Amino acid sequence: MKKTWWKEAVVYQIYPRSFMDSNCDGIGDLKGITGRLDYLNYLGIDVIWLSPVYQSPNDDNGYDISDYQAIMHEFGTMEDFDELLEQAHKRGIRIVMDLVVNHTSDEHKWFMESRSSKDNAYRDYYIWREGKDADTPPNNWGSCFGGSAWQYDERTEMYYLHLFSKKQPDLNWDNPEVRKNIFAMMTWWCDKGIDGFRMDVISMISKTKEMPDGKLTDFYGDYGPYCVNGPNVHRYLQEMNEKVLSKYDIMTVGETPGVTTKLAKQYAGEDTNELNMVFQFELVDTPGKYGKWTDEKLPLTELKRIMTRWQTELYGQAWNSLFWDNHDQPRAVSRFGDDSKTHRETSAKMLATCLHMMQGTPYIYQGEELGMTNFPFKKPEDFRDIESINAYSEWCRSGKVSHDDFWPCLLLRSRDNARTPMQWDDTSQAGFTSGTPWIAVNPNYKEINAKKETANPDSVFHYYKKLIALRKQNPVIVYGKYELLLADSETLYVYTRTLEEEKLLVVCNFSDQETTFALPEEFAGCPCLISNKENDYGKANIMVKPYEAFVLKKN
Ligand code: GLC
Ligand code: CA
Repeated sequence: MKKTWWKEAVVYQIYPRSFMDSNCDGIGDLKGITGRLDYLNYLGIDVIWLSPVYQSPNDDNGYDISDYQAIMHEFGTMEDFDELLEQAHKRGIRIVMDLVVNHTSDEHKWFMESRSSKDNAYRDYYIWREGKDADTPPNNWGSCFGGSAWQYDERTEMYYLHLFSKKQPDLNWDNPEVRKNIFAMMTWWCDKGIDGFRMDVISMISKTKEMPDGKLTDFYGDYGPYCVNGPNVHRYLQEMNEKVLSKYDIMTVGETPGVTTKLAKQYAGEDTNELNMVFQFELVDTPGKYGKWTDEKLPLTELKRIMTRWQTELYGQAWNSLFWDNHDQPRAVSRFGDDSKTHRETSAKMLATCLHMMQGTPYIYQGEELGMTNFPFKKPEDFRDIESINAYSEWCRSGKVSHDDFWPCLLLRSRDNARTPMQWDDTSQAGFTSGTPWIAVNPNYKEINAKKETANPDSVFHYYKKLIALRKQNPVIVYGKYELLLADSETLYVYTRTLEEEKLLVVCNFSDQETTFALPEEFAGCPCLISNKENDYGKANIMVKPYEAFVLKKN
């Protein structure tokens, strides 16, 4: 297995709108991020993934880009960006940009040209089709944000495809001009000195020409084979690699809905010349009651089965990314741990242990290192996210499901849970802004905030800091081979990592029940690298406390 810096790195994701506001308008911005670099440096992370900061009308908070080479006014200027990059680099922190090129904003100049007439030079930059008849879209594909994936445009009396909102028309990657322009734009950013790309829904860029009806449900993205992992996606990524990526020492991670381990070996194979790694969603996207909207919890045995499959099948062939949450997911501790007063800190540390000891590049989503929790939304009007708002009207306002049935699912799954402002201290608005924040601050900020966490050596923050440091000191954490023990346990997640003479034992209790664990003989008397509780790890039978996690090292 090749050794590379991005395999050894820990990434921190920033959602700029909610990170830090420097000018009191209630919206996080680039200067705000620059002002907090010392905090990130202290935590010890190597790379920042910046969610989109480009010019955008913000229909989907920056994932609808109207100019790829300009900064969103609310976030600052290109000078502010250059300053952020320089200050980050000074501290040895790299910056990975979000690359959203499955679609643009409908306010991008390409689209404004494209929709203007059938023979416009940009017409073929997007995907236009005739309707089946006057009132019927070209096919039955649904948008990830609800409703049809097709929008009728009166000007030319045709439909355009939008797999997300109707303000996010899909680009036509089959057009070589489109690819050329995107590659030129990427080159421009690379020449500026950025350190990589996180590629938004990159598995969806290639669509079958025929665009047949799919076997569709009316929820979250089930278009089958027609536009997820489509016919030319690998060809286009190889072309991108050849024309852009291979010329720079950068890291790339594909957001690849629908990816399987088999496909990951192609997207992110050691020698396939596409991407460095992919995000897989098997853990977080398991469909439930109402599509992605569900209050069901993944059983631990199932979670282990999924994780283990990725850990073992990619070993030596492709590279994993590791995450519990991001800006599209609820908060990790609320979802996979226990955010009650009694267990929040312990379970947040346990989850961190479980993930950071695995093979792959770990991603920390802003606030996760504080054990930030889901938000207690009270009414539909509290939501800001287009997906949550649309879902509520599609499922409840339409009368398909009752409010009382749907509400708990929305509460648990809404993307807004992750988008509330970063909690810096216990002053008003959690120190995020001195204005009115664009989305409410979680009322638990007096209890959970960075100031308190950094001051307390036993905090979740310091635990993350230690995990990051351990990864730097122990190559076995990066390159070791993974093996699952106790596959059938419904409470314990136990695995080992082995690299030549070095071997780690990782034990995590995913429940609020004390559980006995028989220590494998080879680990008797081995020192403990890290743990979130006090316990006697010398015993043959260890009573593992609720949400306890510990790592023993044999050498
Ligand atoms: C990705 C982004 C998400 C966005 C969508 C459309 O899934 O992570 O936030 O809404 O793509 O760009
Ligand atoms: Ca601001």
